[in-house]
Amino acid sequence: MPQVPNEAKIADVEFVLADLKAIYEKNIRLTPEAFEFLEKNEIDQDVYEKILATEGLFFTKEMLDVLLSRQDKIPTRPVTVARALAFRPEAKEFSPSFKLIGRSDITGKSNCTGKIEDFVAHFRNRFERVSAILRRRISEHGIATTKQLKSTQGSKVRLIAMVTDKRATKKGNVLLTVEDCEGSAKVVLPRETEAYKLSGKILNDDIIAFDGKNADELFICDTVTWPEIPFAREQKKTERDFAIVYLSDLHFGSRKFLEKPFQRFLNWLNGSEGNEELAGKVKYIIVCGDLVDGIGIYPEQEKDLIVKDIYKQYEMFDLAMEKIPDYITVIAAPGNHDAVRRAEPQPALGEDLVKSNVVRVGNPSNVEIEGLKHLLYHGTSLDSVIPAMGGLSYEKPEEAMLELLRRRHLSPIYGDSLIVPEERDYLVIEEEPDIIHMGHVHKNGYMLYRGTLLLNSGTFQDRTDFQVRMGHHPTPAIVPILEAKTGKLSHINFMGE
Ligand SMILES: [Fe+2]
Ligand SMILES: [Fe+2]
Repeated sequence: MPQVPNEAKIADVEFVLADLKAIYEKNIRLTPEAFEFLEKNEIDQDVYEKILATEGLFFTKEMLDVLLSRQDKIPTRPVTVARALAFRPEAKEFSPSFKLIGRSDITGKSNCTGKIEDFVAHFRNRFERVSAILRRRISEHGIATTKQLKSTQGSKVRLIAMVTDKRATKKGNVLLTVEDCEGSAKVVLPRETEAYKLSGKILNDDIIAFDGKNADELFICDTVTWPEIPFAREQKKTERDFAIVYLSDLHFGSRKFLEKPFQRFLNWLNGSEGNEELAGKVKYIIVCGDLVDGIGIYPEQEKDLIVKDIYKQYEMFDLAMEKIPDYITVIAAPGNHDAVRRAEPQPALGEDLVKSNVVRVGNPSNVEIEGLKHLLYHGTSLDSVIPAMGGLSYEKPEEAMLELLRRRHLSPIYGDSLIVPEERDYLVIEEEPDIIHMGHVHKNGYMLYRGTLLLNSGTFQDRTDFQVRMGHHPTPAIVPILEAKTGKLSHINFMGE
């Protein structure tokens, strides 16, 4: 039977060709990228008129982007994915089982008014909860508070306190000022000690156990201990055979958002990009912040945006999420580019912004997936921890993540990252997580440490000018996937040729 031509479609094509012809006749030369975009997208007539009104011989895709974003005329195109007809995903055969641990998430609970009492309560809460972890650690010495130090003169004790100042002395030792709930003390780390060797890792606001002896007005310390997690922990695995995909830093709306690689990722989930067996196991996707590029996040961001309307940016995110098979649960937390308060802890994104069927959680938050305890945190504090500590770099975010885990705190240096001093410090890592998922640094990194899997899931944003200036080397479009039953972590690079 002969195919009935779709008249409306033919008319559209003719209409586009007529516009392109008019541009050609005016001697304006479109670059191949600009031509391809105009050919494939429905563009308002007044945009064509603006192109015709431009001076100059060449018209580039960048010029078109500027024109479209200035007019807010970027079409949030329906995302097309290829669905493989023969795809029979295993993960479709069972219902999801996950829960958000309510006390870990600030959403709907913020009660901070910014008064001085709020800071006091916040620090007291942090100190009590982190020092409790330290007190549970086995020690051969008795624990003394700063107030009790005088009465321990000469005998070895453990002091648990928060660092408020660190400096080198004239004799080449390190001198710390520390505080607990009862007062303050001066702690010396003599050059020849183990404590001194680790002093480069001591950060302001760190809560540490100091082992040593009190001598006059100084506490002479030979060993320092961070809260850490216990040694003998094994990686937790699940009964059921399924997979979890970890994403972060999608940056919808950015000029550098990698549309084609993300399309490939969506195709893969739909069984049409190879490796169908693994794709068919995916039951959960966790997105760890920076869903969109946002607006007004840094000076002159407008020039890096293809879409300047925040609602439209989330519309693009939603359109993509709708192409994920519906038996997959998507869980999303915000990051510093998202449209919630910038300071942490951040509440979940509102349903006025994210309208697709996504489970919206706060940053940070704890989510248990079929028994696997996930700690989700965007990772903004990595920007303060990496430069503050010797030996860390943006090339290996997992090593900086480990330093946070050791401190049992997601943002140990107060004041370097924006933090709201809530009465409860939501950034304390109270329970030992099975998986810590972060993003923010746009660099994939993985580590298994004492049974906890630390993973940074990279980005879908291409290298930005800022990253070029900073010498950062992001790893875009590489998606980590955990097979929960075996504990095997692998990743797929969707960047293509
Ligand atoms: Fe980001
Ligand atoms: Fe970020």
